[in-house]
Amino acid sequence: MHDALRINGQRLVARLNALGEIGALEGGGVCRLALSDEDRRGRERVIGWMRELGLSVSVDAMGNLFGLRPGREEGPPVMTGSHIDTVRTGGLYDGNLGVLAGLEVVETLNDAGITTRRPLCVAAFTNEEGARFAPDMMGSLVYVGGMRLEEALETRGIDGARVGDCLDAIGARGEAPVGAPDVHAFVELHIEQGPVLEESGVTVGAVEKVQGISWTEFTFTGTSNHAGTTPMRLRHDAGYAAMATATFVRELATRLGGDQVGTVGALTLSPNLVNVVANRARFTVDLRNTDNEILKQAERTLADFVTQLAEEEGIEVERRTLARFDPVPFDPAMVDRVEASARALGHSVMRMPSGAGHDAQMLARVCPTSMIFVPSAGGISHNIEEYTAPDDLEAGANVLLQVLLGLSE
Ligand code: GLV
Ligand code: MN
Ligand code: MN
Repeated sequence: MHDALRINGQRLVARLNALGEIGALEGGGVCRLALSDEDRRGRERVIGWMRELGLSVSVDAMGNLFGLRPGREEGPPVMTGSHIDTVRTGGLYDGNLGVLAGLEVVETLNDAGITTRRPLCVAAFTNEEGARFAPDMMGSLVYVGGMRLEEALETRGIDGARVGDCLDAIGARGEAPVGAPDVHAFVELHIEQGPVLEESGVTVGAVEKVQGISWTEFTFTGTSNHAGTTPMRLRHDAGYAAMATATFVRELATRLGGDQVGTVGALTLSPNLVNVVANRARFTVDLRNTDNEILKQAERTLADFVTQLAEEEGIEVERRTLARFDPVPFDPAMVDRVEASARALGHSVMRMPSGAGHDAQMLARVCPTSMIFVPSAGGISHNIEEYTAPDDLEAGANVLLQVLLGLSE
């Protein structure tokens, strides 16, 4: 019905750059960890834009932020959005694009004087990254009833801070209740964060599924001793065991092949000194696969390896699951919509899985859901060099506009 309507790409890029100023790192990129003071300032900017656009703003008890645009009829809204928290060395696009493209769609509809039949809602979910507080997608998980609010609020971060205290400290704990949302459909625009679209020369990804995610924190406890005097046969070296495990994770992912990936992204040794055998190592393992059976096999194989290694090295092992989400298929009709809208706009499009976790995978529990991907230059993300060309941002936001129009009419 409004097939000729287009978003304003420059306005979208201007908002991405403006939000990117908050928590900007020297040399580029952003650090806006969940529930930090930078997150507070980012939220304030987004809330300001929502109000300027005439949205009615609400914040729930988990700090999830919603901007509602009434429709001609009442009822469950069509929702879009993503997150504005980042990893410690993040870019300007991961998450932010989904929120700000939602606002750009709203501004486009406002300018054109269009009121959709169903209400529209733009959401910014709390702590999608999980970089500070695990699990990732925490806000959307609580929103769909997949985690109790109380449990989320009690979660402690890598700095020991409690989610509930941090929500209060930045004034982000809202009045709206969480759980059992009534959403007509959800669609999220996001950068791909991988190399596939760019390598394929394709502009739009119609995301069919999100791969399963398994995060474990290991704590190995051995015995500190003198690095010069302790014979190798007498060592209980937590540092060695951690690094042997990291090497094993790499080999395991390579051996399993396919979509299997494995990462040890955080590691701390103590006492962390040149001439002391480490008595403690704490590290994380991130395993992902689109195939849940192979993911489970990877988890079991790793567990067996660690058990045997601990016995051989004479160390104690503690395991803590930080996140475990099965692969999530998206609604086929919603994926079709993304594909058809991209084609109708004249863009090349391919169906693909997501390697990253996304709020959409949680919303998929309560309503028909899909995602739109646009290319990431060099396949780089979770890196200050993250970049998506303005034409691709615009293409993705126009697909979002058309999909939202289709769903809300
Ligand atoms: C979250 O962004 C993740 O996929 O790690
Ligand atoms: Mn993201
Ligand atoms: Mn991310």
